[in-house]
Amino acid sequence: MTDYMTMTADAPISRSTAIKLYDEAGFDGMRKAGRLAAEILDALVPHVVPGVTTGELDDIVRRMTLDGGGVPATLGYRGYTHSCCISLNTIICHGIPGDQKIKEGDILNIDVTPLVDGWHGDSSRMYIAGEASIKARRLIDVTYECLMLGIEQAKPGNHLGDIGHAIQSHAEKHRYGVVRDFCGHGLGRVFHDSPEVIHVGRPGTGPELRPGMFFTIEPMINIGKPGVKMLEDGWTAVTRDRTLSAQFEHSIGITQTGCEIFTESLAGLNAPPYAA
Ligand code: MF3
Ligand code: CO
Ligand code: CO
Repeated sequence: MTDYMTMTADAPISRSTAIKLYDEAGFDGMRKAGRLAAEILDALVPHVVPGVTTGELDDIVRRMTLDGGGVPATLGYRGYTHSCCISLNTIICHGIPGDQKIKEGDILNIDVTPLVDGWHGDSSRMYIAGEASIKARRLIDVTYECLMLGIEQAKPGNHLGDIGHAIQSHAEKHRYGVVRDFCGHGLGRVFHDSPEVIHVGRPGTGPELRPGMFFTIEPMINIGKPGVKMLEDGWTAVTRDRTLSAQFEHSIGITQTGCEIFTESLAGLNAPPYAA
């Protein structure tokens, strides 16, 4: 695709491929939105227990988002009608909240996106209902390590491929599969913007990172193969081989020297175990 910017009525895509650079006002906006995302994910910890339904958790997310001065960006987004995504066990992403009750030993990702003063804070974490198997806990630990190793590569002069490479090498060292069908994304005033942040890659490839770029990193890692199967509802993506899948997501901004994580937990609840 080219960078041809002239807009016509039949332009196939309205989104520019150029990566926006934000100023200090943008960082301030993202700090607020990111902080609310982190606080919502912190506050969910005691609610994720066996017996609760994913719909009840969605209600809690909606209430907390509104109380925090935001609006869930997923509400009404491309026909999606919930306040978060909840992806249980073999669901890779975009699980739809509903009547399903969470069971002892389930692992789940909760992904929230509060829109605050026009800025999108997008973050997700894994939760465990009761106690999970060793193999599930290991998947969760390695997936969080993948996210943080990717973030370590997020600095000026590096390339997006450095982030993908760090994630892919760590996951594959553990013989896990990195999902290719979904990626991280630029964000800011737009929910899903350029660039696509792919969670595999080769060092030194892809766009060069510059101060002022905002994007998410959100690796989805499967115990088995990377393959995805879409369910009939058009949203839910599950592992084709029905192995467990995990994901963590942060929204970050590239600074002069590295990056700022907008969605970090100030309560120290970035990854399980969360128990006191
Ligand atoms: N929060 C998701 C992301 O990380 C997007 C969810 S869009 C929805 O990009 F419509 F599925 F909710
Ligand atoms: Co995202
Ligand atoms: Co998200």
